[in-house]
Amino acid sequence: MTIKITTVRELAPGEHRVALVPETAKKFAALGATLCIEQSAGTDSHFLDGDYEGVTLADGMPNAYAGAHLILRVTPPSAAEISAMPEGAVLIGMLKPYESAERLAALNARKITAFSLELLPRISRAQSMDALSSQGACAGYQCGLIAAARCTKFFPMLTTAAGTIRPARVLVIGAGVAGLQAIATCKRLGAMVEAYDVRAAAREQIESLGAKFVDTGVSADGSGGYARELSAEEKAQQAEKLAKAVAGADVVISTAAIPGKKAPIIITREMIARMKYGAIIVDMAAESGGNCELTQPGEHVVANDVHIHGPLNLPSRMPTHASELYAKNLYNFLSPWIKDGQLVFDWEDDVVAGTLLCKDGVTVHATVKQVLGVA
Ligand code: NAI
Repeated sequence: MTIKITTVRELAPGEHRVALVPETAKKFAALGATLCIEQSAGTDSHFLDGDYEGVTLADGMPNAYAGAHLILRVTPPSAAEISAMPEGAVLIGMLKPYESAERLAALNARKITAFSLELLPRISRAQSMDALSSQGACAGYQCGLIAAARCTKFFPMLTTAAGTIRPARVLVIGAGVAGLQAIATCKRLGAMVEAYDVRAAAREQIESLGAKFVDTGVSADGSGGYARELSAEEKAQQAEKLAKAVAGADVVISTAAIPGKKAPIIITREMIARMKYGAIIVDMAAESGGNCELTQPGEHVVANDVHIHGPLNLPSRMPTHASELYAKNLYNFLSPWIKDGQLVFDWEDDVVAGTLLCKDGVTVHATVKQVLGVA
């Protein structure tokens, strides 16, 4: 039987992305799949129903899910959506795997085979499927723009008849995907950019973008190309060196993260007390607690005339390109396993096995099980 691939309108507040765009719908159809979208699923990303050629339109979420074999989503489904999914269907999305044991139990109760793209191994072969990277790039770009828009100074150096304006000083903490894009964006806008990361390899990447590396003498490479958590002594050493860079900055963009853990607190109250009046912090890690002690997720907080922003769901602020990239990530993950309209995974494949969250009624991902304490 030919597989039916379905996508629905995302319901999370402020979510404007969609998991299937007209271009990837065409490509899935070329592999022999049949496709269905809930009416208006792409409207917020500016893909109209009529743009999805050859795709069936379903009136409402339950109708879209009826008979689906493969469900494409951006965000995790609600309990109501899970109960509308056909038993045994395959679900793929950014499912926030560490967030809720109840959601995993609900997926398992319906024997949903769930893939969570946050778990995708970060190996070369999987780069084209890496949704954390594609969405992180959107988020880092947006952070740079928010910083420039909120800053009360020019980013570039300006020579005017009234005199010369010095460029704004930007410090980026955490130079992963999002941090590097924030650096590149602030550099393009003309700011003087310094950046810091605990991974040794980040130095070269920071410098290749024309930014200056802040050397704290702390290096903390962990497994899989990620950082490990710092020891208490390392944290103290980092804090002392970073405090100086933070005090000199007009803008601090923080993006430090360790997978599956709460974001490390790097910018303390004491550091904020030493910052310039009117300086701003854009804390991209707000979603996982924040890198700044005073960050309130989704809020703008002012302390000592320092303005601290904790924006959420940044990729959704540019839903057209964020959806296009995300939909391509999904296509690149799934297309090797769709032949003549049939979906057949190789469960031994590193990428498939590494991304698999639930199968046959049980949670299978070892780290998720450990973090959530589920059997
Ligand atoms: P990533 O894992 O690629 O980068 C995180 C970087 O932080 C790594 O380079 C790591 O070495 C560094 N790091 C870890 N501990 C550190 C420390 N103590 N000091 C300095 N650097 C440290 O992650 P990515 O994709 O760049 O995302 C960064 C953050 O932004 C995450 O918290 C993520 O959840 C968040 N994010 C937020 C979005 C939003 O809409 N608000 C959207 C996308 C990502």
